[in-house]
Amino acid sequence: MVSQASRDKLILIGFMGTGKSSVSRLLADKLGWLRLDADEEIERAEGRTIPEIFASDGEEAFRAIESRVLAGLINRKEPIVIATGGGAVLREENREAMLGGGFVVALACSAERIIARVKADTERPLLQGDVESRVHALLEQRKGIYDFAHFSIDTTELTVEQVVENVLREW
Ligand code: S3P
Repeated sequence: MVSQASRDKLILIGFMGTGKSSVSRLLADKLGWLRLDADEEIERAEGRTIPEIFASDGEEAFRAIESRVLAGLINRKEPIVIATGGGAVLREENREAMLGGGFVVALACSAERIIARVKADTERPLLQGDVESRVHALLEQRKGIYDFAHFSIDTTELTVEQVVENVLREW
């Protein structure tokens, strides 16, 4: 596919636990590009962890920081594979910045797989309590929100390698 999207940023979006981190790592390896993770950049910029930001300032404050950091990453001059946090798509300004700034790839996978992946990490502020019901509720709330991507792929039955091959073919 010949995409009209800007070609020097590959931006991965998708719900928590859909494989954005591992896919972005392999993509960056294959392309010889820098890989940056928006969540890590937020923690670096703030000097505190995401759970700390949520706990002391709340989700809206986190979203404002997230938007600022994401815009900064998209505006950088060098080619970058950017892994975003699962909620980075909630703000329209971010969706527009992503679409205008790079090739946006949405990773999806089954709720069961997501739950299996995120269960090990008890840190995610939005998944406190009963992880299964939190995941189902958030998936419902966010239904369709990732559909603006240039390319979407269901990773449930695929290896990381296969996902990367598919992305590079479509890009
Ligand atoms: C969030 C996803 C997290 C992180 C924060 C909020 C979300 O990133 O940004 O906990 O709202 O879906 P990952 O998708 O990398 O877990």
